[in-house]
Amino acid sequence: MYKDLPTGQEKGKFLALDLGGTNFRVLVVTLDGGNFDMQSKIYAIPQEIMKGACNMLFDHIASCLADFIKEQALEETDLPLGFTFSFPLTQMGLTKGILERWNKGFNVSGVVGKDVVQLLEEAIRKRGDIKIQITAVLNDTTGTLMSCAWKNPNCKIGFIVGTGSNACYVEKKVEHLEMMEKLNFIRTEFDKEVDKKSINKGKQINEKLVSGMYLGELVRVTLCKLTKEKALFGGKINDKLKKKDLFTTVMISEIAATPDGSLDNYRKAWKKKCDYPNATENECAIVQLVCEKYIQRAAHMCAIVLASLINRIGESKITVGVDGSVYRFHPQFHDLMVKFMTPLVNPGIEFDLMLSEDGSGRGAALVAATAASALAPSE
Ligand code: BG6
Repeated sequence: MYKDLPTGQEKGKFLALDLGGTNFRVLVVTLDGGNFDMQSKIYAIPQEIMKGACNMLFDHIASCLADFIKEQALEETDLPLGFTFSFPLTQMGLTKGILERWNKGFNVSGVVGKDVVQLLEEAIRKRGDIKIQITAVLNDTTGTLMSCAWKNPNCKIGFIVGTGSNACYVEKKVEHLEMMEKLNFIRTEFDKEVDKKSINKGKQINEKLVSGMYLGELVRVTLCKLTKEKALFGGKINDKLKKKDLFTTVMISEIAATPDGSLDNYRKAWKKKCDYPNATENECAIVQLVCEKYIQRAAHMCAIVLASLINRIGESKITVGVDGSVYRFHPQFHDLMVKFMTPLVNPGIEFDLMLSEDGSGRGAALVAATAASALAPSE
């Protein structure tokens, strides 16, 4: 069943692109049986490109690729490239993916409905200074699954809870469910408000309950309402609280991470970040509680998704490879997920969650390698 997952014996040198998380990275990965080496560089994607025209984005990606290849002195090699493109794609094949819609803050015109591999190939061809063969397009969950399965053969699920959220596992028959209707009953007025102001209203509803792109904003709109109702800060909404996305998910993790969990430490952090120097202990405790509630709900939703997949796979020992800034940086997220998953996973199944140390880069290289070996004639 899992002949498509890596064996740990893959060999070769591969390029990888990782687009769709907090950082856009270009990587070169060398696989040599059980060993691997990875060099990478993070490149910025300016806001005007994230919301600009199609050619701006793909020209920019091609130019970062060219810069990296020159820096690594790889101009003379013709390396296969695995393209981690973590947005909703209709995958038509290993090297063909049609963008369904943008999310996670991207809104580039002229890409929806087109094959992103072809768009990148055209941008590369136009430059004429680098030789690249795109051999696979995948998303970050697949990258995470491949990366973790390479290390641990029990890994059967890839899961992301970072800027966005998604999961993958090996399935023969895929059925598409409309999540919006199914999840409507748990959405609050705050969820609806955040959804309404997003670039993909009515879409990715589960992601909007759990991921880093939205959790901070959910806390902010909730605090605004509490302040408007004079339950907080003497009814005064300051500039920081007023502006969309200024309360970040990183701040939720920081608030939870005060070394001894004391209100004193937390209050200092809050005062500095949010400009409420006279906030009382009680007000700080309310902010902390709002953060906690959203994190608990997010961990619960993630637990439901993962327990369902684990039960569906039904093997006696299943590891989930996990990546993403919410999981990585929130100090209680892992424990909360395990706590909520435990009663939901069928008796007789042992599970654990494994952090993907090396991101999706190695996974992209492994997909490129697995694709190459699948095409090679058998001995
Ligand atoms: C990185 C992976 O480690 O995590 C990316 O390499 C992935 O492929 C990302 O998209 C998810 O986390 P975040 O928080 O950066 O969105």
